[in-house]
Amino acid sequence: MTPRADAVEKVTGRAAYGTDRVPDGLAHAALVPARIGRGRVSQVDTAAAEAVPGVLLVVTRFDETELRGPGFIMGGGFSFQSLQPLLDDRIAYRGQPIALVVAETPVAATEAAELVTARYEPEPVAVHLDAEGATTLVQEEAIPLPFLADIKVGDADAAIDASPVRIEGTYEHAAQHAVPMELNGAVVAWRGDTLVVHEGTQNAAAVRHGLARQLGLDPACVEVRSPYVGGGFGQKNSLQPHLAPLALVAKRLGRPVKLVLTRTQTFHNGSFRPATRHRVRLGADETGKILGAVHEVDQQTSRHDLFPAMHTEVTSRLYGFPAFRGRHRLVQTDVQTPGYMRAPFESSAMFAFESAVDELAYATGRDPVALRLANDTMTDPVSGRPFSTRFLAECLRRGAEDFGWAARDPRPGSMRADDGSLIGWGVAAGNYPGHIAPAVAHLTATADGRVTVGVDGHEMGQGIRSAIALLVADDLGIDVRDVEVRVGDTRYAPQHLTAGSWGTATALPAVHSGLRELRRHLDAADRGAVDVAAAVARLGHPAEVEVATVGPGQPPEAVGQARAGHLAISGPVYPEFSTFSWVAHFVEVRVEPTTCRIRVPRVVSVVDCGRVASPVTAASQVRGGVVWGIGGALREESLADPRSGGFLNATLEEYPVMVNADVGRIDVGFVDEPDLRFNPVGVKGLGEVAMVGVAAAVANAVHHATGKRHHRLPIRIDDVL
Ligand code: MOS
Repeated sequence: MTPRADAVEKVTGRAAYGTDRVPDGLAHAALVPARIGRGRVSQVDTAAAEAVPGVLLVVTRFDETELRGPGFIMGGGFSFQSLQPLLDDRIAYRGQPIALVVAETPVAATEAAELVTARYEPEPVAVHLDAEGATTLVQEEAIPLPFLADIKVGDADAAIDASPVRIEGTYEHAAQHAVPMELNGAVVAWRGDTLVVHEGTQNAAAVRHGLARQLGLDPACVEVRSPYVGGGFGQKNSLQPHLAPLALVAKRLGRPVKLVLTRTQTFHNGSFRPATRHRVRLGADETGKILGAVHEVDQQTSRHDLFPAMHTEVTSRLYGFPAFRGRHRLVQTDVQTPGYMRAPFESSAMFAFESAVDELAYATGRDPVALRLANDTMTDPVSGRPFSTRFLAECLRRGAEDFGWAARDPRPGSMRADDGSLIGWGVAAGNYPGHIAPAVAHLTATADGRVTVGVDGHEMGQGIRSAIALLVADDLGIDVRDVEVRVGDTRYAPQHLTAGSWGTATALPAVHSGLRELRRHLDAADRGAVDVAAAVARLGHPAEVEVATVGPGQPPEAVGQARAGHLAISGPVYPEFSTFSWVAHFVEVRVEPTTCRIRVPRVVSVVDCGRVASPVTAASQVRGGVVWGIGGALREESLADPRSGGFLNATLEEYPVMVNADVGRIDVGFVDEPDLRFNPVGVKGLGEVAMVGVAAAVANAVHHATGKRHHRLPIRIDDVL
């Protein structure tokens, strides 16, 4: 198997991440966080900070003529939130920056930042879904956009009321924060009138166009370079609020400036997975055939932005529902705006929904796998269109086979290990919408036989470089080492957002189309190996082509929208079909009877992501998703402070994530059937579907082990005792 394209650079430490850059004259910045959760800052005292040796600048406020708001990414803007800190005296959430310190060294900047003091006029905070002062809005009224409207197929409530078997439950999912290896941060430098930004981001285009808007620059004068991202997961999907202030102080000082947030600061200055509450109702006949389903969700947002909830987009497509009703409400609280975090809605939605489906299996006496197979469908219940491909049944059958599901005794508490531990086997399915974004691909073939590809995409470790390099190498019959892939850099392609698992299905069709064009240019046949060196020699100069592609049925104008740094995605409903990726997870838990410690010794996951573009990175991506899903089920929870706002456990000591010792065996299988209706390469998304359903499978396995249903994540020892 071909290893990942970035393997050598990464293991040798040569891969340079955004803040690894050390330009001459680099100055270092630090943020000063607000110590109240809401209110006003009436006075900031910077004297002690300014007296620290090496301090160059302490800024507490920018002028609206030099710094404009970035706009909310889901409202036509560029940032995860509309609020730009350091523009006025309002404090909307704990940890909001009230000053920016720049010094000769990071140590001096940090010391000075800690010496900045402030006087506040605090106001009461509401940080939980049920808090007094939290405001609940019906999403379809608050954000009247067609794709956010409530889902209504048939009369689900009546169908459930008339059903012989009914399941009803409320499920809670904690807020969570991404804790990537690479902290949020950037190195910014001015080269004449051009602003150069080195930053780990999933959206170099939004950084470029957002900074241009905030600072009044020509977007052509903002260069963004993000060749590697040390974990994006959605938190790095947009312009960060500290960047424009950083650019302004770099200009004032005439020096490059670097800022790296602390781990605690990323809990307050980056987006996070909002807390949600799910109410699920199912009605079925005695055989477990589902007759109606209702999924209602309350999701936390901030006061200043409405982060849209899209949980029912996936649950409404999971099975062949004759009737389905989905509804979202948004609860405004005193936090920074929450946002996307790997499988942002799907993971929590599926915990709730697939827990309820498991309860239905027990209520009807059906095997949980058989019940899911009996409710399979090839038609999207919402759009009425066929799924372009759907191999969920195959995922369930293969997963059951590989896991050894047939040996399961369905009675809870019936299976024990030699050491006395209770064994639980659980299953859950999952899905994720199939999106495609516009992409521009620029291909150059040179006389040395090499091909260079610049394309929209960001390498977050998911393996997009490997997938692109393999496609080019296979297509032209050249060595994969003769392919150079340039992503995440505005010098080579527009760099529209890479997220929502659309990276591969976006970049690969663009590169595929570029390859057809390149072959014509080189006078080569449309298929078969190409002697690139000889063809370029015949041509007499390097061959260069540029193509732009969009999703199925997407208007060509979408390319311009993407070039301007705005979201421009298509799917999952297309003119002729609907597209989703599918997965089935089988989980074994062992519950130690005295301590009730829960271990997960093995998982089998089988995925339908269309054609597998890069086997090594694809399998890694699924393992990563499974590990995170287990972490979500058993470990992760951001604890908001009801008295003074903010998140209390904002460190890796107190926000436990899965570590190697927590992870057992994870077997990954792929159906590997190309989805050629979706795009000519046949690839669908993978990164997020990998995680969807894992938490439900864990919770279902815990129920099988102990007989106890858990309606709230994470499931901790004291919940099982
Ligand atoms: Mo992802 S949470 O869409 O970066």
